[in-house]
Amino acid sequence: MILFLYQFRLYLQQEKENFVTKTRTYHMAKSENIHPVFDKILNREHKEQLISQKGITIWMTGLSGSGKTTVAIGLERKLHALGILTQVLDGDNVRTGINNNLGFSETDRHENIRRIAEVSKLFINCGIVTINCFVSPTIAMRQAAREIIGSKNFVEVYVNASLNVCEKRDVKGLYAKARKGEIKNFTGIDAPFEAPIKPEIIAETGKLTVEETVDYVFGQVISRIKPTE
Ligand code: ADX
Repeated sequence: MILFLYQFRLYLQQEKENFVTKTRTYHMAKSENIHPVFDKILNREHKEQLISQKGITIWMTGLSGSGKTTVAIGLERKLHALGILTQVLDGDNVRTGINNNLGFSETDRHENIRRIAEVSKLFINCGIVTINCFVSPTIAMRQAAREIIGSKNFVEVYVNASLNVCEKRDVKGLYAKARKGEIKNFTGIDAPFEAPIKPEIIAETGKLTVEETVDYVFGQVISRIKPTE
C-alpha cells in the first residue's frame, strides 16, 4: 500500500512537470513566431495631425453609483460638440462584450483593467480620446493601467462620492442586493475600494451637480486634447 502511494505520488509529480514543460514550450513557440510590425504602420502623430487633436485616456475611478458614466456621457457630448473624437469605455458595457468571460474576483478585475488599458492604447494610437469608467478599485490596478497606457497619456479622475451617498442613490439596486448577500465581492461592501492618492483630477460628484462636474473636468482636460487652442 505504501509502495503504491509512493508510486502514485511520483506519477502525479511527473504529470505536473510534463504539463509545465508543455505549457512553456507552447508559449515559447508562440512568441518565437510573432513578428510585430509596429515600426512599419502609420504612427500616432500621423493620426493626430489628421484629426487635429491629441489622444489621451481620461480614467474615471470610483464606487459603483458615484457618477462615472453620467459624467462621461456629459463630457463626451461636450467634447463632441467641439469636433473632438472620443470613445466611452464603460465597465457595464465592456463586460457584455470583450470582457464577458470575467467576473469580480481580484484576478478577473485585474484582467478586465489590463484588457481595457490595451484597448485604450489602440485608441490613443489613433489620436482618439477615451473616457474610461471603471471601478478599478485598487491602486495596483490603476497603476498597471497607467503603465500600459503611458503616464503622459493617462489622466486619472477620482469620481468621489461617499459610500453613503452611492448606497442611498442605489440606481441599479445593487447595493441592496449586496447587503442581503445576493452579490458577493461588491465594491465598498465586502470588497475594498482604495481611493487614489494623487489623481490628476478630483470630481466631487457627492457635492457638485452633473453639469458642474462635467464643466470642471472639461476645463481640466481640454488643453491636453487641443494644446494650441
Ligand atoms: S472593476 O472593478 O472590474 O473595475 P467594472 O467597472 O468593470 O468593475 O464594473 C463595475 C460595474 O459592474 C458596477 O457599476 C456594477 O454595475 C456592476 N457590478 C456587478 N457586480 C459587481 C461587484 N461585485 N462589484 C462592483 N461592481 C459590480
